[in-house]
Amino acid sequence: MSRWLVTAGLQLAIDGPSGSGKGTIAKLMGEELCLPVLDTGLLYRFIGWRADEAGLTLDDEQAVLQILPTMISTMAWKAQGIFFEQKDCTSLLRSESAGSRASKVAAMPQVREALLDVQRELARLGCVMDGRDIGTVVLPEAQAKFYLTASQRERARRRWSQLKEQGKNADLERIAAELKDRDARDMDRDCAPLEKAKDAVHVDSTIMRMDDVVERILNVLERRKLITKKL
Ligand code: DC
Repeated sequence: MSRWLVTAGLQLAIDGPSGSGKGTIAKLMGEELCLPVLDTGLLYRFIGWRADEAGLTLDDEQAVLQILPTMISTMAWKAQGIFFEQKDCTSLLRSESAGSRASKVAAMPQVREALLDVQRELARLGCVMDGRDIGTVVLPEAQAKFYLTASQRERARRRWSQLKEQGKNADLERIAAELKDRDARDMDRDCAPLEKAKDAVHVDSTIMRMDDVVERILNVLERRKLITKKL
């Protein structure tokens, strides 16, 4: 049970670059406030995966668009993850290569447009939603928006240590180079690039512990009376 009384329908938007810790923060905030956590990156990862499985080159926008309705109709996106043909395929989509494919299809305006309703519908009753354009495009009316960053070096180091913990071979320089490419693709694209919404609170987590980031976000929500501590 949450120790907070939460405003009905509270939408909390968390945006930021890869490795900024937004996934972890979104999960912790969801637990803290008993709200569903919606990871929008999974949607783009799913589209990239299915397009790749269909043998498409991800530079071929027209080909991706042709099978887009079928891809969307065969998936079920939930707070628990993403399902394809009744099977949870979330873990499959977590790889670096899935992330890289995702950032290519995410640059296609019609792909983004087609996913808007899916995201808004699920967010309707309140949620923590994380991504790149949640505060700017998907939920511009969200009551609270946070823009989470960390230095590129620190983000690469976090990814590297995560892979090491999983017993995987990881090369810090290669991870840093891939992160730089992904940042460029996400920030420089024409359609819904990653940027801070004007009314978002910027939190730089480079030298912060994740618990302290959560505390900071809770403070903002409490000050704005979006949440109240239960007696
Ligand atoms: O957050 P992530 O690493 O799972 O995201 C994978 C890719 O999807 C990322 O490179 C950018 C894209 N993305 C996006 O453009 N908009 C979102 N709301 C979420 C993800």
